[in-house]
Amino acid sequence: MAAPTLTEPLIEAEAERLLRVLMNVDCEPQGRKWNLDTCREIAPLTLEINRLKKEKNAVILTHSYVEPEIIYGVGDFKGDSYYLSLKAKESKADMIVFAGVVFMAETAKILSPDATVVVPDRGSGCSLADSITGDQLRKLKAAYPDAAVVCYINSTAEVKAECDVCVTSGNVYHIIANLPQRRILFVPDRLMGHNIRDELKRRGIDKELITSDGTCMVHEEFTVAQIAEARAQFPGLKVVSHPECPPDVAAASDFVGSTGAMLQYVKSTVAPYFLMLTECGLVGRLEVEDPEKTFIGGCRLCPYMKLNSLEKVRDALRAPRPDQIVTLDEDLRRRAAHSIERMFELAPKS
Ligand code: 13P
Ligand code: SF4
Repeated sequence: MAAPTLTEPLIEAEAERLLRVLMNVDCEPQGRKWNLDTCREIAPLTLEINRLKKEKNAVILTHSYVEPEIIYGVGDFKGDSYYLSLKAKESKADMIVFAGVVFMAETAKILSPDATVVVPDRGSGCSLADSITGDQLRKLKAAYPDAAVVCYINSTAEVKAECDVCVTSGNVYHIIANLPQRRILFVPDRLMGHNIRDELKRRGIDKELITSDGTCMVHEEFTVAQIAEARAQFPGLKVVSHPECPPDVAAASDFVGSTGAMLQYVKSTVAPYFLMLTECGLVGRLEVEDPEKTFIGGCRLCPYMKLNSLEKVRDALRAPRPDQIVTLDEDLRRRAAHSIERMFELAPKS
C-alpha cells in the first residue's frame, strides 16, 4: 500500500499538536528549542511513524529518559522499567519498538516472545548491565551457595537467567525484605546495594547483602557538595534522587525512588525549587506534565538513552535491520522469564 501524501495542512496540524505538548520543555540537552519551526521539521517523521505503527500493529514503549519528541510524539506508553515491563507482558502487538536501552528491549522480548521486538540503536547499552556476565555471576553464586540471587532489571538476559528473582528500583526494598533468606547476592549495582542495606536497616530488617561492582555512569557522578551548594542558593529546595546514586547523596536527599516514584513525588509536592539527581529526560517529562514547577538543573545525560532518535525509531519500524531485532535463545529466555515472573508475583500490588 502506497504511503499517503503528507499535505501541508496535515503537517501543520501535526506541528501544532507537537508544539502544544513540547512548548514547556526547557531542559533540552541537545540544545533544541521547541517552537513551530522545529515542530514542523519533525512533524513528517512523527506522522510517518504513527502511520507505520497502525500498519504493523506495533506499540512504542518509551522510557522517561528518552527525548520528549519520542515520548510524546510517537510513544504509546511511557514510564519506568517496571511499568514498561508490565506493558510488554500485557502487549498483544505484533511488534514492540523499545525506545530505551538494550536490556529493556531484551526484557520485553523475554515477556512477549511471539512479538518482533526491536531496539532503535543496538549500541544503547548500560554501564550496569554491561558490568557483569553470566559466567561471572555463576562464579559468585558458587562462592555464596546459601544466598538468594537477586538481579536488578538493569542486567542482561544471561544474568537474569541465573537469578532467583529480578527487581526494579520501584520494588527492590519490598521484594528483598520479604525473601526468606537472610543472605542476598545482589547484582550488578554496588551503590544501589549500599542504599538497599541502609534502607532495610532503617526499616529494622536484618539482611546481609553481597554485591558485585557495577555502577551507573550517570548517577554515580552526583555529589553531596552539589546538593549543599544548591541548598545554599535555593532556600526551600527539594532534592530528589534515584537509588543508583552514591549512598551519601541518597542520604542527603529529600526523596529517593524509581523514576516513576520521583515523578509522582514532584507532582504531589509543593516546593519553590527541585533538584533532580537523575537523567535529564525525567526533567523534560516533568516540564511537560507539571509546568508550574521550577527545576534548577543538575541533571545528567545518559549517552545510551540519547542514542534513540525519531529517525532510528522510524527505520526500526519500517524495515528493521538484523542488528535492531532482539533475538534470544529459547532456553535462556525461559530461565530469564522465571526471574521476572517471580518479580511480578512478589512486587507490591498497587
Ligand atoms: P527506573 O526503573 O527507575 O526508570 O530506572 C531505570 C534506569 O536505568 C535508571 O538509570
Ligand atoms: Fe544504565 Fe545509568 Fe543509563 Fe540507566 S542512566 S540506562 S543505569 S547507564
